[in-house]
Amino acid sequence: GKDVIILAIKPQTMKKVISDIKDVISERQLIISIAAATSTQFIEDCLGKNIPVIRAMPNTPALINEGMTVLCPGRYIDKRHIKMAMDIFGAVGLVEVIYREELMDVITALSGSGPAYTYIIIESLTEGGLRMGLPRELAQKLTAQTLLGAAKMVLETGMHPALLKDAVTTPAGVTVDGLMELEDGGIRVTLIKAVSRATEKSKELSR
Ligand SMILES: NC(=O)c1ccc[n+]([C@@H]2O[C@H](COP(=O)([O-])OP(=O)(O)OC[C@H]3O[C@@H](n4cnc5c(N)ncnc54)[C@H](OP(=O)(O)O)[C@@H]3O)[C@@H](O)[C@H]2O)c1
Repeated sequence: GKDVIILAIKPQTMKKVISDIKDVISERQLIISIAAATSTQFIEDCLGKNIPVIRAMPNTPALINEGMTVLCPGRYIDKRHIKMAMDIFGAVGLVEVIYREELMDVITALSGSGPAYTYIIIESLTEGGLRMGLPRELAQKLTAQTLLGAAKMVLETGMHPALLKDAVTTPAGVTVDGLMELEDGGIRVTLIKAVSRATEKSKELSR
């Protein structure tokens, strides 16, 4: 009899869980699924009734209220449902709504998987500091707060990252040498390919 039912289960168990609950679900309830690679249509079809379904792609920083969630409404969704879902996920971070469900694959690859990519970057910058003699704990703190600060600069100023980068890069300075090594290592292409490859994988798993 609840207004909202959140399906926070693995995609493989979706069909079974829905078949267990579908008899007690009615059209005036809202189903929100956070399962990756599982379309609203798949869930609607499993339910076999005109049940409002919203597909959500949250990420793990929701644990500390810094989540990024993208919502995609199914066929039987109205504005009131979207507002309810925005309130729920808005309590643990930022929320966006999209209507083109095919974009959920790249969203999964970008903000869903993104924390994992970022942890690799944090580990590596930390090891750079470590290699040059910084204590590990300090190196890790400097790295994480620097990423957080830079991310907030982008979100809060709305400026292009290239302009923000230029502001710390002085002629014949220190930063430009670091940037040159990053470019030499192909960091841009590597990150672009990571998102592309993970998007392809999400598409492969989708149903
Ligand atoms: N991890 C992420 O960053 C992330 C981001 C976005 C979306 N997702 C999606 O979130 C979903 C859950 O991921 P997770 O990492 O939280 O997985 P998880 O830790 O394995 O959690 C799965 C949950 O489903 C429950 N469950 C399993 N079978 C069930 C059944 N037959 N009936 C009712 N409940 C059942 C489990 O309960 P018990 O513990 O009692 O077995 C558990 O609480 C996945 O579909 C994933 O694609 C994850």
